Amino acid sequence: MPTDYEKIAAEYDRRYRDNEYAGIEGALERFAGSDSSTRLLEVGCGTGHWVAWLDARGYGCAALDASEAMLARARERLPHADLRKGTAEALPWESASFDRVLCVNALHHFPDPECFFREARRVLRAGGGVFTVGLDPSGGLDSWSIYDFFEGTRARDLVRYPPVTQVRDWMDAAGFRGSETSVAQHIRIRTNASEALRRGILGKSTTSQLAELTDADYARGIDAIRAAIELAASRGEELEVVADLRLYVTTGWVDA
Ligand SMILES: C[S@@+](CC[C@H](N)C(=O)[O-])C[C@H]1O[C@@H](n2cnc3c(N)ncnc32)[C@H](O)[C@@H]1O
Repeated sequence: MPTDYEKIAAEYDRRYRDNEYAGIEGALERFAGSDSSTRLLEVGCGTGHWVAWLDARGYGCAALDASEAMLARARERLPHADLRKGTAEALPWESASFDRVLCVNALHHFPDPECFFREARRVLRAGGGVFTVGLDPSGGLDSWSIYDFFEGTRARDLVRYPPVTQVRDWMDAAGFRGSETSVAQHIRIRTNASEALRRGILGKSTTSQLAELTDADYARGIDAIRAAIELAASRGEELEVVADLRLYVTTGWVDA
C-alpha cells in the first residue's frame, strides 16, 4: 500500500532533527548556483524542509505536493511562498516558469516518473536544470537493519526506487542533456538497538519503508529486533542497528 502522508505528516520532520544532510545541502547549493534571482520549484516538497532551506538563502521558491497534510506544514513555515496541491505528473504552472526543478526523496512515490520529467522539462526555461535525490537499492551497496528485520522491505524498495540509470534514461527521453549521477551523501549510522527502540528511531512513521507495512508486519519486525537483542545479550554482546545508505543525486540540463 502506498505511504499515507496524511497520517505521517505530524512526525515527518523528525528525520531532520535526528540526522544531518550536509551532503544533500552541498549538492543543492551547487545545483541552485550563486544567482539568487534563480527561480526554483520543488516537486513533492512534503513539509517544506528544502524549500525553507533555499528560501533562507534568498532563492525564490515555489513548491507542490500531493498531500494536504504535508503541505499544511510547509504553509506554516513559508506563508509567503507559492505552494500548491497537485501531482508531479500535471504541474500547475505555465511553461518556462522556472530555472531549476528539484525532487528530493519523492520520485519513488510518483505513479508516473517519466511523465514528471516531461513536466519538469516543460516548466523549465532555457539553461535550466532538474535535480533528483534518492536511494538506489539496485546497486547492492547499502546495508540497512530495516531491510534485515522487516520482511519484504528490501524487495519492495527494489520495485519502488528506479535505478539511477533509469532516472537518467527518463531525463534523456524528456529532452534533458548531460544527465549524470553522483553519491551526494553516504549515511553511516550505528545505534545501539535497545536505544533505537527506546528513542523511537524505528517508529512506523519515521520512513516510508515502515509506514507502508501492515501493523502486524511492523510488529513482527520489532519482535525480531527484540529477539536479536536478547540473543546478543545472552552472548554478552550488544546489538546495533545500522543504516549504511547512499543518497544519489542525478541532474540533467536544458540547452541554453
Ligand atoms: C518522502 S516525502 C519527501 C518530502 C520532501 N521532499 C523532503 O525531502 O523532506 C515524499 C513526498 O512526495 C509526495 N508525493 C507523493 N506522490 C506524489 C505525486 N504524484 N505528486 C506530488 N507529490 C507526491 C508525498 O505527499 C510526500 O510529501
